[in-house]
Amino acid sequence: MSERPDHHITKDGSSTLYSNTYNQYFHNPNGSVSESKYVFFETSNVPDALVQNEKVTIFETGFGTGLNFLLLLDYYLSGKCISKVEFHSVEAFPILADEAGKLNYASFSDFEELEQVLKNIFTDLKKGMNIIKPLPDVDVTLFLFIGKFKDFEGEVVQADFFFHDAFSPEVNEELWTPEAFQKLKSLAHSEAILSTYCAASKARAAMAVAGWKLAKARGALGKREMTIASLSEKNLTNFKRVNEERLIERFNNGDFDH
Ligand SMILES: C[S@@+](CC[C@H](N)C(=O)[O-])C[C@H]1O[C@@H](n2cnc3c(N)ncnc32)[C@H](O)[C@@H]1O
Repeated sequence: MSERPDHHITKDGSSTLYSNTYNQYFHNPNGSVSESKYVFFETSNVPDALVQNEKVTIFETGFGTGLNFLLLLDYYLSGKCISKVEFHSVEAFPILADEAGKLNYASFSDFEELEQVLKNIFTDLKKGMNIIKPLPDVDVTLFLFIGKFKDFEGEVVQADFFFHDAFSPEVNEELWTPEAFQKLKSLAHSEAILSTYCAASKARAAMAVAGWKLAKARGALGKREMTIASLSEKNLTNFKRVNEERLIERFNNGDFDH
């Protein structure tokens, strides 16, 4: 797991990395900033929650480049938000500060103070939990666990939003199992919403087996579909529902074993 990732520019001009370990891009090559905004923020209405709720808690699987956290700060500053935000994330293989320094995400923001945020975050990370306040006057705290998701334990998180941003199920299987989604459920507020770019039936079946209710939305940048899940069906009324029972049946029949 030591081969360093390569830097690339996606079609909307924003950076991504290519993982030589997983043989996969960290983001959609058609546009990392565009895809992340659409899949994780806009589809589940995170910007509205940042303006309306006193406290917003987000849990991300796969901190990667830190793009989603930087976008959260950008939405927060743009919306003149006053909510208290906790952003929890896990990352098994953190990138180096020099690699973070090459990412051009801050140039997509109007806020100059975001320029050094990612480089600073990746500068002094230790294994286990890192608690970071990236901007002095902004009530956003990053709880970044450096380690595998299976070793993340003992934390009480009542997340309102989950950004499930692992590599694809074919190469990153351990983050797409019923056990993984069961664990996410144990970290969820009863009204939580989970978003992922992934629309694979196998991944949806694992969510359904773990007790998540499912819906689909149009995918980002030419992808046909993405998945939205919640523990509360009423959060899915604006989306086209997925038949969870059928997926559970197929899972139990072994349809997804290969
Ligand atoms: C698709 S990338 C993340 C994209 C990220 N959200 C971003 O915007 O850059 C998936 C990330 O999950 C991490 N990862 C893979 N398996 C993991 C595991 N079991 N526990 C924690 N992190 C894991 C990878 O190292 C990688 O950084």
